[in-house]
Amino acid sequence: MPVLPGPTTEPSMDDALPGGTVLVIDDDEDNVRLIEALLSAEGKAGAQECLSKPFDCEELLARVRSLARLRRQTDELESAESVIMSLALVVEARDAYTSGHCERMATYATIFGAALGMPMDVIETLRRGAYLHDVGKVGIPDSILLKQSPLTVSEFAVMQRHTTIGDAVCANMRSLASLRPIVRHHHERLDGSGYPDGLAGDDVHFLAQIVAICDTYDAMTTKRPYRDALCRGDARRELLEDGRRGKLNATFVDVFVGLLMNDHFTSRNTS
Ligand SMILES: [Fe+2]
Repeated sequence: MPVLPGPTTEPSMDDALPGGTVLVIDDDEDNVRLIEALLSAEGKAGAQECLSKPFDCEELLARVRSLARLRRQTDELESAESVIMSLALVVEARDAYTSGHCERMATYATIFGAALGMPMDVIETLRRGAYLHDVGKVGIPDSILLKQSPLTVSEFAVMQRHTTIGDAVCANMRSLASLRPIVRHHHERLDGSGYPDGLAGDDVHFLAQIVAICDTYDAMTTKRPYRDALCRGDARRELLEDGRRGKLNATFVDVFVGLLMNDHFTSRNTS
């Protein structure tokens, strides 16, 4: 945990200090603006604590220990989340027909969210949720996940459980809480015909509605062992039809199809 002396000249805000830094400064009026900038930059400048000289050694030690503990906890959370994100790739790797699905979904969702005018933090939730949406397939047996023919009714019932399994996986991580509506509800349909909860209308979280459109399009344009991929034009028409019939959000579908028509995705390696 670095403890740095206060700078004698105002630093550029681009000169980020190492994470977990305690900045020790002279008790000088001229530094007030600098302190505020460093502490309000939310990590951009990197200083989490600020002490004035002459500083109390006990206080300095306590602050450093507190930051070190926080840093350890953050590292543990990040590594736990990265394991779960990797699970999504494990699922993808089990099925050769879904190669690249996680990345494509993340790209679709990010561009789609931006086109809908969503704020950056919501777009980031959307991106992570789209990447992770099928993580629950880790609990679906190969005999069903990799079946080379259409699923029977009972097999489809087992496959549907990937939504609730994924939700349970995410429930153990507070940092994944915002992704749970996407993971659990990306197969819900606005007319109530989806699963696992048969939600309808606005009860389907808007992020799940968005991911459902991306997922439907990617599924339609991906070849499966028992059916060919639709061409992009047919997939667009199917999406519009699902919007017209009230299965998918028609307003969102119009935006998504507009992005497809203007090649906003294909230039980003999603074709
Ligand atoms: Fe799914």
